[in-house]
Amino acid sequence: MPGLSRRGERMPPSPIRKLVPLAEDAKRRGVRVHHVNIGQPDIESPEEFLEALRDPGTRIVPYGHSAGLWEYRDGLVEYYARFGIRVASDEIVVTTGGSEAIIFAFLALADPGDEVIVPEPFYTNYNGFAVEAGVTLVPVTCRIEDGFRLPPLSALETRITSRTRAILICNPNNPTGYVYSREELEALRDLVVERDLFLLSDEVYREFVFDGAAAHSVLHLEGIGDRGVLLDSISKRYSVCGARLGCLVTRNRDLLSAALRLGQARLCAPTLEQKAARRALDASPEYLEQVLDEYRARRDAVFEELAGIEGVLAVKPKGAFYTVVRLPVEDAEAFARWLLTDFQVEGETVMIAPAAGFYATPGLGRDEVRIAFVRKVPEMRRAMRILKLGLQAYRGAPARAGDRAGP
Ligand SMILES: Cc1ncc(COP(=O)(O)O)c(C=O)c1O
Repeated sequence: MPGLSRRGERMPPSPIRKLVPLAEDAKRRGVRVHHVNIGQPDIESPEEFLEALRDPGTRIVPYGHSAGLWEYRDGLVEYYARFGIRVASDEIVVTTGGSEAIIFAFLALADPGDEVIVPEPFYTNYNGFAVEAGVTLVPVTCRIEDGFRLPPLSALETRITSRTRAILICNPNNPTGYVYSREELEALRDLVVERDLFLLSDEVYREFVFDGAAAHSVLHLEGIGDRGVLLDSISKRYSVCGARLGCLVTRNRDLLSAALRLGQARLCAPTLEQKAARRALDASPEYLEQVLDEYRARRDAVFEELAGIEGVLAVKPKGAFYTVVRLPVEDAEAFARWLLTDFQVEGETVMIAPAAGFYATPGLGRDEVRIAFVRKVPEMRRAMRILKLGLQAYRGAPARAGDRAGP
């Protein structure tokens, strides 16, 4: 039997999804599982989006332009202008999810064996995209003790080699919720200009910033010119993760041309969804204001509950809807598994995402988990209380391989 390619073999499973079979088993046993492991929001999509899908106004679903429907791209130009991001419709390539925007950027900018520097912990699927494109991710570590801010620039500089093509950031950050300051972004800009690199900025959580923080875009940066690449998605903005729409935005003509040609090879992004997304752009600003209020309330509730759990270290995030939490266990994955296989409180348990898979450096994040604020306040509180009871029971339980009973 012929074997798989090295790529096929190396393609990593999603660490967020790998405990799913255990959650399914728990459910089969009648246990209710509170899913705070995955970024699937429970927020309703804007009515405008749903209405457009209900009545698409067409009897066929045709292919569309490979870079996206012009009507949708024109709408996006207005959308970005609301944030002071000035781009033209031919500087946008609509993609099948933000995922494809990142893959297109990797494919167009890096040859197999080239390197992309990325602060860790990072959105775990960057690993999969890197394997697909043959790119090596080179991590620089952000520490929970430092609130996950960027380490000194020298830490990035020392990672630059002749194979480095880009620095990839996620702002606001998944999984940490960190929001980069203007100064940090300007320092990154200076570095990429000086060292002749691209700055890729995944900004899919742009709307979700709290406490007066502002999410600055890579395309706000004066002098970034052709080096800035904005990677975006509507999955979280409008709670339409299944619509599979994102985009790549840049002023770099060569990159736009390559992204268009990559787009032509897969013909087009979903057309009905683009029409619906165009309509969603007309949703009243109150829609997103309410969503933001809801996420803020959930974050605050989670942090109130976490404050009551002994031995936990967490930094209140200013953006996105996640937090990375250090738990008083040695092996957070073993604990996350145990919560699903061996623990319940009145027929309920909680599913959390072990954070090791969000780091590229082996051994980091072993005692951390990511929590997503994707359930309403009462359920988030309940989930955190179950987590607290779980920790108490686990640490009181006899020691098991890979873990110890005390902190
Ligand atoms: C930081 C980040 N980038 C990209 C994506 C992928 O988004 P999409 O659903 O549009 O492919 C996600 C999804 O969770 C994400 O969190």
